[in-house]
Amino acid sequence: MPSDRLLLRGRMLTFSAEPQSPDDTTAFDYIEDGALLIENGLILRRGSYCEVVAGAGDAEIIDHRPKLLMAGFIDTHIHFPQVQIVASWGAQLLDWLNTYTFPEETRFADEGHAAAMACRFFDLLTDHGTTTAVAYCSVHKASAEAYFEEAEQRNMRMIGGKVLMDRNAPDGLRDTPQSGYDDTKDLIAKWHGRGRASYAITPRFAITSTPEQMEMAGALVAEHSDCFVQTHLSENRNEIAYTLELYPEARDYLDVYQHYGLLSDKMLLGHSIHLEQREIDALAETGARPVFCPTSNLFLGSGLFDDAGLRSKGIVNAIATDIGAGTSYSMLQTLNEGYKILQLQDQKLHPFRAFHWITRGNAVALGLEDRIGTLDEGTEADIVVLDSRATEAMALRMERASTLAEELFVLQMLGDDRAIDEVYVAGKPQKGKAPAVPQPAP
Ligand code: GUN
Ligand code: ZN
Repeated sequence: MPSDRLLLRGRMLTFSAEPQSPDDTTAFDYIEDGALLIENGLILRRGSYCEVVAGAGDAEIIDHRPKLLMAGFIDTHIHFPQVQIVASWGAQLLDWLNTYTFPEETRFADEGHAAAMACRFFDLLTDHGTTTAVAYCSVHKASAEAYFEEAEQRNMRMIGGKVLMDRNAPDGLRDTPQSGYDDTKDLIAKWHGRGRASYAITPRFAITSTPEQMEMAGALVAEHSDCFVQTHLSENRNEIAYTLELYPEARDYLDVYQHYGLLSDKMLLGHSIHLEQREIDALAETGARPVFCPTSNLFLGSGLFDDAGLRSKGIVNAIATDIGAGTSYSMLQTLNEGYKILQLQDQKLHPFRAFHWITRGNAVALGLEDRIGTLDEGTEADIVVLDSRATEAMALRMERASTLAEELFVLQMLGDDRAIDEVYVAGKPQKGKAPAVPQPAP
């Protein structure tokens, strides 16, 4: 019987901690001629090619040299039903939601549409090197079903949930406190912990949930403390003002969620830009994770995320695309725009920290670093193969690059889906570009 063992050969980079400076080489392992031995969707061995091949038996060998193998990218905030409204012109957050987003999301009541879009959405993720994402589905249970069905077909480690929203949205895009609770319970029972799926309890944001629905969201969180929780926080000044009108008792925006018991280290808070000191302290105390969404924040003109300020309080920040307000599925392009947002605040995003962030860093934010985000033995074999000469502009620049840090910065600033040469999900190639080479005789 043929073995299902696979040996990937190439240059290899994986992180064991967050690099503290541009020359902190203790935080990663880089192997010039490295190999990964993969079996049953897991990484069995990592090391130099010579070491690993010696114990690889009849494993099929795929030679990716001179390309660079890293852990698959993790996108911690993305909206699955917004695939067809990316790049919609001219509005800031609340107008953008009302004009483009909400009408579009009503279409996901239709199971057939949701299933077709899920297939396209997952193709886009893997084409861009993303192997795990945390997604908002629409308010319709069918959209979450379509999302998890498609993830299961592809054996991808995916997190998501149907949004809870019972006000300030058009007909066909509202649930009720009870139906939102019941649908979420059903989805958790069916999907949470099934294969590689996890559920995220998802009150969309304070504006679209009544206090009664927030109460129900709090009950869901209390009953399912192992689920993730996701929502939006302080993205836009008009959003904050309207939230405080709707919740006059709240001390600040975060207090709405805090009051209903939603905050913990399982919680992801998209944007978290315009924060009060009390909110920052509460994030630090509860361990809730702000999510930086650079391309979205620039596209909607929302504001500049204070990465260094939050990190200085010990807060763990995640980073994400936020499609469809975000303008690229690529975590590389997300790093590019993130670099520029930090530049505007005299903060730095050097390439080692950047590549740590979209792999192990986001895994840490999700509490999943023992499963994804590294090339460690025993973890799941979600891997990207990067080509730092994928375009003419990159190839020319690379002629003058001599260090790993320079190469990574070229990928960070100029890379996109063209730089993703191959993607493995649980050890299975998704693009099939590189031919297998016969095992040389011992
Ligand atoms: N706030 C509430 N819903 C959304 C959304 O879909 N996108 C963004 N960027 N912000 C939101
Ligand atoms: Zn969002």
